[in-house]
Amino acid sequence: MKVLHISSSPRGERSASLKLAQRFMDTLTERDSTTQVDHLDVWKADLLPFDGPALDAKYADLAGVEMTPEQKAVWQQIAELGKRFHEADVIVFSVPMWNFGIPYRLKHLIDSVSQRGVLFDFDEQGMKGLLPGKQVVVIATRGVTLGEDYPTEAFDHQVAFLKTWSRMVGIRDVRIVESEATLDGPEIAEAHFKAALEKAAQVAKQL
Ligand SMILES: Cc1cc2nc3c(=O)[nH]c(=O)nc-3n(C[C@H](O)[C@H](O)[C@H](O)COP(=O)(O)O)c2cc1C
Repeated sequence: MKVLHISSSPRGERSASLKLAQRFMDTLTERDSTTQVDHLDVWKADLLPFDGPALDAKYADLAGVEMTPEQKAVWQQIAELGKRFHEADVIVFSVPMWNFGIPYRLKHLIDSVSQRGVLFDFDEQGMKGLLPGKQVVVIATRGVTLGEDYPTEAFDHQVAFLKTWSRMVGIRDVRIVESEATLDGPEIAEAHFKAALEKAAQVAKQL
């Protein structure tokens, strides 16, 4: 099994989402020792600025206009990045909630790579995702608990966004591991985190 792990916490060893992702990967590797993991850390990756030639390339493509050599070169870089998604059987996002959404470096990656002819296409029926048959696992951490004070429909732009993106690229099988209340008192935070560790292992066993 080939896994693309896209991590988006800059907190290194203190990161809750990275610890959960580690449990997930360890369980997967115990299950299948041939598991290959391609790790893309959005804080370390050299992300392409999406203005200038990249933006012009996108609009040239949409308009059916020949790209300049500079635009072609940038588009090639985007296609190379897209290849990492195509090569994976499972795409794992480990993602902390930031301002009820996702960290901006992850949004940057998604905005760069989610292009026509790379991760989706258009046909007469509309948008068609190019990654069908793959699975997405979202390992999400957040300081608060969604629900009463923060109704999920209004406040969740983290998991909800990644579900929408998955659907846009043609992936219907999305599994969720959540650890909430990470900024609560240690007992509450620990209880949530422990349950999430178990869920991470369970999802890895069931893939
Ligand atoms: C810039 C920033 C914004 C944050 N915004 C939110 C938020 O809107 N809602 C929330 O529940 N937690 C928020 N948090 C807290 C993190 O989601 C929480 O600490 C999480 O457990 C971090 O995961 P990590 O340890 O994997 O980085 C924010 C943290 C940072 C650094």
